[in-house]
Amino acid sequence: MVLQNKVAIITGASRGIGRAIAETFAREGAKVVIAGRKQETLDRAAAEIGPSITPLACHVGRASDLERLVSETTARFGRIDILVNNAATNIQQGPCLEIDEGQFDKMIDINLKSTFRLIQLVAPGMCQRRDGAIVNIASIAGLRPQFHSLLYSMTKAALIMMTKSYAVELGPYGVRVNAIAPGLIQTVLSEYYWKDDERREKQLGAQPIKHLGQPREIAEVALMLASSASSYVTGQTIVADGGYLLSSM
Ligand SMILES: NC(=O)c1ccc[n+]([C@@H]2O[C@H](COP(=O)([O-])OP(=O)(O)OC[C@H]3O[C@@H](n4cnc5c(N)ncnc54)[C@H](OP(=O)(O)O)[C@@H]3O)[C@@H](O)[C@H]2O)c1
Repeated sequence: MVLQNKVAIITGASRGIGRAIAETFAREGAKVVIAGRKQETLDRAAAEIGPSITPLACHVGRASDLERLVSETTARFGRIDILVNNAATNIQQGPCLEIDEGQFDKMIDINLKSTFRLIQLVAPGMCQRRDGAIVNIASIAGLRPQFHSLLYSMTKAALIMMTKSYAVELGPYGVRVNAIAPGLIQTVLSEYYWKDDERREKQLGAQPIKHLGQPREIAEVALMLASSASSYVTGQTIVADGGYLLSSM
């Protein structure tokens, strides 16, 4: 078990990719704190996955919730070895000229500032112990604009640069910071792209790997980045998209 006795926080882990990462880390021996907005869905996920999961309600857009998440995890387990910044949203899908400032601010708060705030809270302890792994869940939308998703693409692009910038500064203290850029993965967030037969077939037609991405296929990449299997890897963004981005080459 490659994460034996490691302590991990995963945001947005009541379902989808975050939950799959929690299951994978638990399988590998980690104690995993899962965060999301609704205590009851977290409790259900924890009961289903097993006793190594601790569910803590936390809205990542609220600074006080993030502080509580970190302080309660530290009080319970003594340290945080792994942080997975996974929670994100896409509240605005539509023409860029219809975006208002409220939407802009909300997307920055949920998709970007949350990660900045959590790293600022967690990384000092990691640096002190000279050991830590941070994994940020970005998107291929941060590498190439997703049509009618200016705010989502913009926040994911910034997350990729945040990953590199933290990696440069925290590397000397033994803390690695990496990102994953998933393509289309079958979750609630991306239903628009896979529920409709025509859209799904168009997507799969453009991918060399001909199945719809599953959350566990991202979780295994997260496991590699969180574990010593990637001890010489930092500041990277691993694209896991079934080869979708290659289709434009
Ligand atoms: N699915 C894809 O195709 C795809 C592709 C590329 C990148 N990604 C990225 O992968 C990550 C996970 O996405 P997903 O597809 O697994 O999404 P999902 O199925 O919608 O799950 C999102 C999770 O985040 C939680 N969450 C949402 N807003 C939150 C908030 N403000 N505070 C705390 N938790 C919150 C949700 O629980 P509650 O609602 O209970 O809070 C849920 O557990 C995101 O960063 C997303 O951008 C996904």
